[in-house]
Amino acid sequence: MFITFEGIDGAGKSTQVVKLKRHLQERGREVLTLREPGGTPVAEQIRELLLESHNDITSIAELLLFSASRAELMEKIIMPALEDGCDVILDRFFDSTTAYQGYGRGLNLDMLADINRIASHGIRPDITFYLDLTPEDALMRKFSEKSLPLAFESEELDRMENSGLEFYQRVRAGYHAILEAEPQRIVMIDALLTPPEIHRKILSNLHNFEVTSDGKN
Ligand code: TMP
Repeated sequence: MFITFEGIDGAGKSTQVVKLKRHLQERGREVLTLREPGGTPVAEQIRELLLESHNDITSIAELLLFSASRAELMEKIIMPALEDGCDVILDRFFDSTTAYQGYGRGLNLDMLADINRIASHGIRPDITFYLDLTPEDALMRKFSEKSLPLAFESEELDRMENSGLEFYQRVRAGYHAILEAEPQRIVMIDALLTPPEIHRKILSNLHNFEVTSDGKN
């Protein structure tokens, strides 16, 4: 099974990835967890380039760098793991590109769809969990964790996070548009619920998916 997590920065995806991995392993599944960008030596270097706050990168170059990282990870790690019957849980995938580079940066969505297809080798997630949070709540979380005053641009944030409030509002609207287009694949969960509540919702949706998906799993 190929499961992806999506949401704006600070939505709590990584906590849920860990909980879901543990749950699947307890059921005897072999599980690989990964996050984008990154996951191979070259993809990790691309990640550093993309997130280093002092790098000035054009929107198209940014799109191609995220896509290059994805192409590496797909071919070298994810496709072999899926072929071996492993479950793969991936923190961000092509929906991030559509939301951030498409809706956030304003790049052409048809061009993005083509590039996403190339970078992902045409492979699509079986199910995607989208944790929905307003950018204001996301930043509030981040800064309160560090006991710092709230700021929409800060040295504390990476290059993407420093894109400003309006950028994040467009990204969130983008996620909602993606969800509307593919409600059968994407499950939206309120990220303000507690981590155990979110986990329970994930498990019940996963169960429904397994029951309705012709014994794929
Ligand atoms: P993260 O690993 O902390 O989520 O950081 C990755 C950042 O990169 C995050 O701000 C989302 C952004 N991103 C894109 O803009 N496009 C993409 O395709 C991916 C995978 C991530």
